[in-house]
Amino acid sequence: MLSTPFHLMSTWFQNDDPTVFETANGKSLWDCVAQQPKLKNIFYDCMTTDSELISSVVIKDCKEVFKGLKSLVDVGGGMGDMARAIASAFPHIKCTVFDLPHVVDNLQGTDNLEFLGGDMFEAIPSADAVLLKWILHDWGDEESVMILKRCKEAIPSREKGGKVIIIEMAIEEKKKEDDKETMETQLCCDMMVLGLYNTGKERSVEEWKKLFLDAGFTHFNINPVLGLRSLIELYP
Ligand SMILES: C[S@@+](CC[C@H](N)C(=O)[O-])C[C@H]1O[C@@H](n2cnc3c(N)ncnc32)[C@H](O)[C@@H]1O
Repeated sequence: MLSTPFHLMSTWFQNDDPTVFETANGKSLWDCVAQQPKLKNIFYDCMTTDSELISSVVIKDCKEVFKGLKSLVDVGGGMGDMARAIASAFPHIKCTVFDLPHVVDNLQGTDNLEFLGGDMFEAIPSADAVLLKWILHDWGDEESVMILKRCKEAIPSREKGGKVIIIEMAIEEKKKEDDKETMETQLCCDMMVLGLYNTGKERSVEEWKKLFLDAGFTHFNINPVLGLRSLIELYP
């Protein structure tokens, strides 16, 4: 199921299906994950592995990102591995994992961790900070701007400590030109998101900046954190 889309690119180029995943499977990845427990387990096992690695690096090396926060909502937070690690390292931060209802229904929270079902395109629960890890690369620019606008509505002003924390690949154009492996890694990841998700793509630093400005954000820091992935802080 996950590899079939990659064999059907030419068919998809000639039909009107919104994604090649739908050409291969008749519905979106999120619908398949909702309906097939085995696929759901495989998908979220991959996410868990990534969250374990990146949370250990972020919590150890980027503590200051969480300074002053009293609440954080992990949008599209899946099984909650990333938020669970943050909630445990910073017990004074009230963490919420916000994802589609079928993903978070029946998941157990802790004293400072809760799960909430909903749709990030409609509204995001309010918090000092919104975390987006591996969300925006699933979506094209139009949808990503929409998600970022919902994030902006959910957080307080910059003066009151509001921010969006994004963990994604962010590649310098110059590095791509100079380093063949970086270019190949980005192209592989582009193919992966194209085959599995929607109109998603990995973005260069310049593409991120444009997206942030289009969503109405004016201040941001982009810091490499692990390999090609960066931790981006975005202020309203
Ligand atoms: C690639 S996974 C990332 C999961 C998690 N952030 C991580 O990095 O481990 C994308 C997540 O977005 C969620 N998602 C997709 N559409 C959504 C929507 N409309 N509202 C909320 N969450 C959504 C999916 O259910 C999935 O858990």
